[in-house]
This record gives sequence, structure tokens and C-alpha cells, in this order.
Amino acid sequence: MGSENLAYALVQMVHNYGAAAVLGGAFFALWPVARLEYGRAFGWLILTAWATQIVSGGLFGLTSLYYYGETPDLSSVATAALAIKAAAAVLGVWLAGFYLLRGPQWREADVKRTFQALAALGAAALTAAAILRWFS
Ligand code: HEM
Repeated sequence: MGSENLAYALVQMVHNYGAAAVLGGAFFALWPVARLEYGRAFGWLILTAWATQIVSGGLFGLTSLYYYGETPDLSSVATAALAIKAAAAVLGVWLAGFYLLRGPQWREADVKRTFQALAALGAAALTAAAILRWFS
């Protein structure tokens, strides 16, 4: 029981900080003033945070497999919420990576739109996380 709770708590801790960085990184690149001159630093933070969410989200599943021999039986609403989070994470990795590769040639308005899109993906994932938590 102790080691199981500790394992879940450690995974949850990483997952929570990742969630904070996913949304906070995109948000503070734009607000209260745009800091697009630091766009690459924000881009790396956001890319790392999305990747962290995929890895730590997978670790939730592996922890359940290890302790129970199966992953939790999710309702259809919870499954949809999980799918939204996973899709947002894949898109987030792709968009942040694409920006880091090609961003230097983009107009400022396009860079701003990219961070707005990354913030929207983060908000969608966090909203889905609340639904996953309470409709499981
Ligand atoms: C492949 C991607 C992901 C997977 C597999 C995944 C999986 C999970 C799982 C299994 C839980 C525990 C649910 C529960 O306690 O009932 C969880 C919780 C959570 N996830 Fe994710 N997640 C993913 C991506 C994300 C993303 C991208 C975010 C936010 C940006 C996020 C934010 C959260 C938060 C805030 C919680 C805690 C919810 C709560 O207990 O109130 N997750 N996730």
C-alpha cells in the first residue's frame, strides 16, 4: 500500500508540474506582455512539458499494470477525455517542435498565433483532465 501510494504520488507530482509548465509556458510567453524575444526558451520549456505529460501519463498506466495487472476500467466519457489529452499532447509536441525548427523564419504574428494555439491546447488538456478525474 505504502509503495503503491508513493509510486502514484511521484507520477502525479511530475504530471502536475508538467501540466503547469504546458499552460504556464504558453501563457507567460504572451501575457501580461508578449515576450516573443524569448520564444525559443519558452518553446523548449513547452516541448519538454508536453513530452513529460506523455511519459508520466503512460507511467500512470504502467503503475496500475504493475500493482493490479490491468489498467483502470474507464467510462466512455473518461475515455474520451483521455483521448483529448493524448491528442492535445501529440499536437503540442508537434507544434512546439515545428516552431523550434522553423520559427526563426516566421513573422511575429505567426509566432504569436503559435503560442496562442499552444495555450489553447494546454487549456483543452487541463479541462479534459478534470473530466477524466471525476468521470472515471
Ligand atoms: C498521453 C497523455 C496523457 C495521459 C496518458 C494522461 C493520463 C493521466 C491519468 C491516468 C491521470 C490520473 C487520472 C485520475 O486520477 O483519475 C491523469 C491526471 C491528470 N492529468 Fe493527465 N495524461 C496525459 C496528458 C495530460 C496533459 C497534456 C495534461 C495537461 C496539460 C494533463 C493533466 C493532468 C492533470 C492536471 C491530472 C490530475 C487530475 C486530478 O487528479 O484532478 N494530462 N492523467
